[in-house]
Amino acid sequence: MKIVHVASELFPYMKTGGLADAVAALSSALADKGHDVAVFIPGYRVALEHKDAVGAARKLRVKAELGNDFLSGDVRVFSPRKNLRVFLVCREEFFDRRAPYGNGERDYEDNADRFIFFCKAVVEVLRLGDLQADVVHCHDWQAALLPVLLREAERRHGVTLALKTIFTIHNIAYQGVFPAKTFARTNLPDELYHIDGLEYYSQINLMKGGILFADRVTTVSPRYAKEIQTPEFGCGLDGVVQTRADDIVGLLNGVDSAVWNPATDPLLPARYSARDLAGKKVNRAELLRRCGFAADFSGPIFGIVARLTEQKGIDFVLANADFFIAQECRLVVLGSGDQRMEGELRGLSDVAPQKVHFAAKLDEPMSHLIEAGADFFVMPSVFEPCGLNQMYSQVYGTVPIVSRVGGLADTVIDADEKPAAGTGLMCEPDAASLRDVLQRALMLFSDRPRYAAVQQRGMARDFSWKLAAAGYDRLYQESL
Ligand code: ADP
Ligand code: GLC
Repeated sequence: MKIVHVASELFPYMKTGGLADAVAALSSALADKGHDVAVFIPGYRVALEHKDAVGAARKLRVKAELGNDFLSGDVRVFSPRKNLRVFLVCREEFFDRRAPYGNGERDYEDNADRFIFFCKAVVEVLRLGDLQADVVHCHDWQAALLPVLLREAERRHGVTLALKTIFTIHNIAYQGVFPAKTFARTNLPDELYHIDGLEYYSQINLMKGGILFADRVTTVSPRYAKEIQTPEFGCGLDGVVQTRADDIVGLLNGVDSAVWNPATDPLLPARYSARDLAGKKVNRAELLRRCGFAADFSGPIFGIVARLTEQKGIDFVLANADFFIAQECRLVVLGSGDQRMEGELRGLSDVAPQKVHFAAKLDEPMSHLIEAGADFFVMPSVFEPCGLNQMYSQVYGTVPIVSRVGGLADTVIDADEKPAAGTGLMCEPDAASLRDVLQRALMLFSDRPRYAAVQQRGMARDFSWKLAAAGYDRLYQESL
């Protein structure tokens, strides 16, 4: 099959969160199965500077019509792996920036134009190039315009550029909503600016278009597929998702073992496996050192790696600041984003630097060290489409503490509820429930054989992408 993925992030060329990991692992797994896979991402500055992309051949020059403007761009191609090609859609004005979506707290003003251009450039490559896609698989709002653009291209010009389109919702909280006048930039027929089209409360909603016009809709866990059909989790699109209830399926992400495997991880000071956890102790010692904590500390270390947004339940952690100060434990947080949360976390580590460490940055090696060196990984999300870190934690023998939502509930088993099967601990998404589960964590940690059993069960689980990729493969075949 010829499979084209379109997304705004792809590890290791651009990553702000799990989207990058998921698209990278899925496209690689499909390529390894023998499919012909292409992935389109914007040609961000960091992507162009990556060693794989340096010297990438300029493949095509494309022109896209946005309203009355014709905007041109270059598309560069390289192949980082057998059967896999990466297409960088370049236009300096739009993508030669450090961050993909905005500066700090604010989104870029021209995001609508940037991602409409991106989608239209992909259509142009499909039209001019020789991709002959069987499936075009679009991820999140940045690629959500493609299904309707492809449908229109077929209607207007009688050309089929993709046999089927798939749209995956990685996070329904980000929808790509823009003022009504933006609609003109799509050059779509006026009748699509309608309640059954892209119109949404007198604005345009790109994700809504993806949900309505793709042949199949997926999301990243079975539970989230149900949740987003409810007002509590649907972020205003629950009614729209319900109209596709028969076509929506939740396929869990996996763990890319080429990147996240404690036995081979090059970013760790020491490697280890379920059979021999000695290396985990070395990583723990290094984590204590990096955080400036006392080297002889033997109590539990709680780790957090997250984008600092409301989604991640950071406020529940902050509401329990006194717990981390009073108890014999350590807390290390790696994450950036919301300025208020950054300020409060910094405040907490300033009050108790010997117990709480906070690093407000993106730091890939540090994220691996936390997964490997901590004893518990804390992820009390308000909502979580899938979540990757709770899976990485289990693979790394770091017991996850998660809230009972979305993919977290689908991938963690509570050790108090199911003593023979538990791989982590679970709370409800609120501060009081998090406090209870932190107490339970202290008890679990003090019972070494029980803690070790939970750890071992987590490490024995199979979260490999082979399973996930097989699910997508089936879906593609069925849709075709
Ligand atoms: P989301 O996509 O909602 O952010 P996921 O759990 O799916 O959540 O994926 C988050 C990914 O981003 C993980 O690979 C995590 O390690 C990574 N990550 C988040 N914040 C940072 C950070 N500050 N430094 C390094 N990696 C980070
Ligand atoms: C989104 C979600 C996260 C998911 C990731 C990859 O960023 O917030 O839960 O794991 O996409 O699908």
